Amino acid sequence: MRWTAEKIKNLKGKHKIPVLTAYDALTASLVDGADVPMVLVGDSLGMTVLGYDTTLPVSMDEMLHHTKAVSRGVKHALVVADMPFMSYQPSLEIGLGNAGRFIKEAGADAVKVEGGMMRSELIEALVGNGIPVLGHIGLTPQSIKAMGGYKVQGKTSEKARQLLDDAMAVEQAGAFALVLECVPAELGEMISSALTIPTIGIGAGVGCDGQILVFTDLLGMSDKPAPKFVKKYANLNPIITEALAAYKAEVESGTYPSEEQAY
Ligand code: KIV
Repeated sequence: MRWTAEKIKNLKGKHKIPVLTAYDALTASLVDGADVPMVLVGDSLGMTVLGYDTTLPVSMDEMLHHTKAVSRGVKHALVVADMPFMSYQPSLEIGLGNAGRFIKEAGADAVKVEGGMMRSELIEALVGNGIPVLGHIGLTPQSIKAMGGYKVQGKTSEKARQLLDDAMAVEQAGAFALVLECVPAELGEMISSALTIPTIGIGAGVGCDGQILVFTDLLGMSDKPAPKFVKKYANLNPIITEALAAYKAEVESGTYPSEEQAY
């Protein structure tokens, strides 16, 4: 069975939704093979695999390249392409055109845009033109310069109210689900129960309808400190480091390849 945005939407209230990022065909096929219904080609790839300090430099060309690879690695999951910084902010036309490229050229099933009320018109236009949209509010990394850092959002009652209004606006505009990033668990639960579309939390508590984690965080692949909300289900960094050191030592000592690996 191939997942669609409509099927994901219909999971609300019936089944919690696990979501993961993937960045290439290999990581996508692992996620898809684990029966995870939705894969996000996050612009987090700028930091996780491209070596940038933030997501801001990630380009349309880079996102298209990685989304194509993810689409090739997936058989069942819904593929959501993250629209990079400045690929939709300048105008409705630019946003529509770039979203269309993810669907036409890269095989994505949906796109994700950051922002609440201010994105209503864009979300409506995308959905109206047959492009399913995943919303994203709370900590929105493309606004990191304005937010002044990676901080928990919605901590005052006024800010929490604003986020609830943003969530409602994204639902009203026609998004099929909404990512809620780094908000207090109580607010995550409150927004989730106010909406009819599923919320996908990341640092937003267990009250969300689903959860998303970054592939490399979940597997402990980086040696950099991870945010508080990350649970490492494996710690691959030291395992990989040890394997690489063993290979280097065996090549240097002449014990690899042995007769077993020779023709
Ligand atoms: O870019 C990304 O991977 C994301 C998720 C963490 C929500 O936006």
